[in-house]
Amino acid sequence: MARRILILKGSPRAGGNSAALADRVADGAREAGAEVEAVFLHDLDIRPCDACDNCIETGGVCIIKDDMQSIYQKLLSADAIVLASPVYWFTISAQLKACIDRWYGLQTAGWKQLAGKQVGVVLSYGDTDLYSSGGINAIHTIESMCRFLRMEIVGIVHGTLMDVGDAAKHPEFMEQACQLGRHLGAGKDKNDSH
Ligand SMILES: Cc1cc2nc3c(=O)[nH]c(=O)nc-3n(C[C@H](O)[C@H](O)[C@H](O)COP(=O)(O)O)c2cc1C
Repeated sequence: MARRILILKGSPRAGGNSAALADRVADGAREAGAEVEAVFLHDLDIRPCDACDNCIETGGVCIIKDDMQSIYQKLLSADAIVLASPVYWFTISAQLKACIDRWYGLQTAGWKQLAGKQVGVVLSYGDTDLYSSGGINAIHTIESMCRFLRMEIVGIVHGTLMDVGDAAKHPEFMEQACQLGRHLGAGKDKNDSH
């Protein structure tokens, strides 16, 4: 069966840099034979986690009836999840953070629902490097989260890209994104460079 790759796009700019890189991840994954689905989070109604802890009683099912309900299904059936975000205020965007906060229910159910899934990360930022931009904080957050959930980060693509259209001017980032997609699509692990 083809591997399933779920891409969560966390920018409000549908044609922005992180989305353009995420689309190249999708291309690479499809080349490797995977099925790819991309979700543009900004268009969805995703309420913040309200810490009701009902998910502890329900075995991991969140009781908030909004667009996260369809994303839960997609997360659970995916073999790999791509988190694509602009760096906003030195970390991931609010859209992506709100979505990830709602994974709380998944980890209450025996800590296992996302374990073993692969993760790809795509970040774009305006400042000159990973540190001054705050991209490093985004990576630290995602790494901590994946360690906690026992998910494996296969690759991280990031770069200085400010305005819409900048990603297209950087074939090196686009190629890195495509390569990440190929790896996720083929189910290779992070140590496999080919
Ligand atoms: C609200 C807001 C906050 C931002 N904060 C940062 C930041 O902390 N560090 C940075 O380097 N760039 C920052 N930027 C620039 C974006 O990260 C940059 O334009 C990025 O390429 C946007 O990605 P996108 O095209 O996928 O939306 C910010 C932009 C906006 C609109």
